[in-house]
Amino acid sequence: MKTSTFCVVLCLSVIQSFAQRSDYCKPTLCQSGRHIGCGNKNQYALTCPKDAKIVNRENYKNVFVNEHNRVRNIIATGNLVGYYPAMRMATVTWDNELARLAEMLVKTCISSYDECRNTDRFSAVGQNIASTTIIGSYSVAKLIEDTVDKWFKEHSIINRSYVSTYKMDDNFNTSRHFAQLALSRATRVGCAIIEFTDGTRTRVNVVCNYSARPMHNQALYTEGCSVAQCLQGHNTNFQGLCTQSELIDPNNYIY
Ligand SMILES: *[C@@H]1O[C@H](CO)[C@@H](O)[C@H](O)[C@H]1NC(C)=O
Ligand SMILES: *[C@@H]1O[C@H](CO)[C@@H](O)[C@H](O)[C@H]1NC(C)=O
Repeated sequence: MKTSTFCVVLCLSVIQSFAQRSDYCKPTLCQSGRHIGCGNKNQYALTCPKDAKIVNRENYKNVFVNEHNRVRNIIATGNLVGYYPAMRMATVTWDNELARLAEMLVKTCISSYDECRNTDRFSAVGQNIASTTIIGSYSVAKLIEDTVDKWFKEHSIINRSYVSTYKMDDNFNTSRHFAQLALSRATRVGCAIIEFTDGTRTRVNVVCNYSARPMHNQALYTEGCSVAQCLQGHNTNFQGLCTQSELIDPNNYIY
């Protein structure tokens, strides 16, 4: 390739990657609250401890995706006691935009939900958070497994009645992570992890964003024969989930 052609291709791809970044300040994106990405330069908050650092997501994104699909498969196949199997549960795949937004949130060094994190592609982005303190060194993969497991165990706080008609009631704060994991139309996930010294321990904050979130009075999933209605067949690793090429619209919550 000639240098000039190379430059044109390179420049075009740079321009394109800028164009793909949404305008997160756009008023149509959020019904209320400030968007985490609006005016955000993706820097650590001044109030963060000096040693705060983001864990490189290349080290763990497959673990997150795998853990999410593992627990979704347990639900979809009807192996979660007290719950019925799920029809047409999506395989979750990684999403860099959601991960970038998650990174902005963990860089506050505070473990809390943000007000709004919707994108042009996803009109109702969901979010799970966790904060853990650890003594000594730790394995990131193990931390992710434990975190997703902790979220999943919230299934005992709610019950089957929330699946067909999800309620944001008094149980919301203690079971919302499970509801998010069980949401069949959540097709994408992007997570971020930050660690910093907290007294004599290491604090590790986790945020995952999802392409859809549970809606009050709407279903988490349709109960029925797992993989029924998957038009593209099932995922070979997680037999209760549709393959990742299945076209499932995360923005359509009436089903
Ligand atoms: C499910 O949870 C709801 C709300 O907490 C409760 O009213 C209902 O009795 C529970 N159902 C079963 C079968 O436990
Ligand atoms: C959940 O917790 C938040 C913050 O602690 C609180 O403001 C909110 O009212 C709680 N929601 C419910 C439904 O209990």
